[in-house]
Amino acid sequence: MDANDLSQDALATGLPPWIRQVRFFQEVDSTNRVAGTWAMNGAGHGSVVVADYQSHGRGRLGRTWLSPKGTGLLFTVILRPKLARERFGLINLAAASALCRAFVLLGLDPKVKWPNDVQIGGKKVSGIASKVSGDAVCLGIGVNVNQTAFPDEIAGTATSLRLETGQPHDRAAIMARILEALDLTPEQILPSFRPWCVTLGSPVRVSLSSGTIEGVACDVDASGALIMCSGEVISAGDVVHLHQGGVEAR
Ligand code: BTN
Repeated sequence: MDANDLSQDALATGLPPWIRQVRFFQEVDSTNRVAGTWAMNGAGHGSVVVADYQSHGRGRLGRTWLSPKGTGLLFTVILRPKLARERFGLINLAAASALCRAFVLLGLDPKVKWPNDVQIGGKKVSGIASKVSGDAVCLGIGVNVNQTAFPDEIAGTATSLRLETGQPHDRAAIMARILEALDLTPEQILPSFRPWCVTLGSPVRVSLSSGTIEGVACDVDASGALIMCSGEVISAGDVVHLHQGGVEAR
């Protein structure tokens, strides 16, 4: 089988038992949108939408997620979690931890910028954008797998598994490893997340809808929110890590 094969058959290989069904599209607007509709129509926990290409990939905070055909891993898992709604933020943290554990198997040293930017050497390799659809969470994951270059605007801040390891990777196999690692109980999520998260213990600037705060990040709470050492609790925001001199780090 072609190592970059992302057909329905390739995707069905090696999946963990909790994955019920996978729908593959050569092209969609956004796997998150397709999964949202499917969830509203009753798709069960463990249903997955995968695409080779998205014409309108959605990122966090209204951003877009771009990935040329044949290069990225773009999928959305429908979850019906046994969690109170106010703790759904934990799902993004579980996903970040699962991505790190999948990338370590490739010999890499991934880190997470809270809440869920997975980085290698300070450059973003994967992003997570989830949305609630009824009582389901549609967990959207984008991984830069086989890109060999990025557009100028993001070339300094983005990387791919191929660039970091010097070799191409099988997208279907990587998805299977991520889904395997995602099978966490609620109690396991925070202990599995904290060790990857470089934000904890770091001086940060956080952009909020209400303004900006700076300080040292201390921990995450039971809902996945960031706790600053000053006591402030941040449930959503854009974090920049600061060097001690106040200069922005990637
Ligand atoms: C981010 O902004 O960092 C999150 C990016 C998430 C992108 C993924 S790609 C698969 C899924 N479908 C989407 O439209 N978005 C997510």
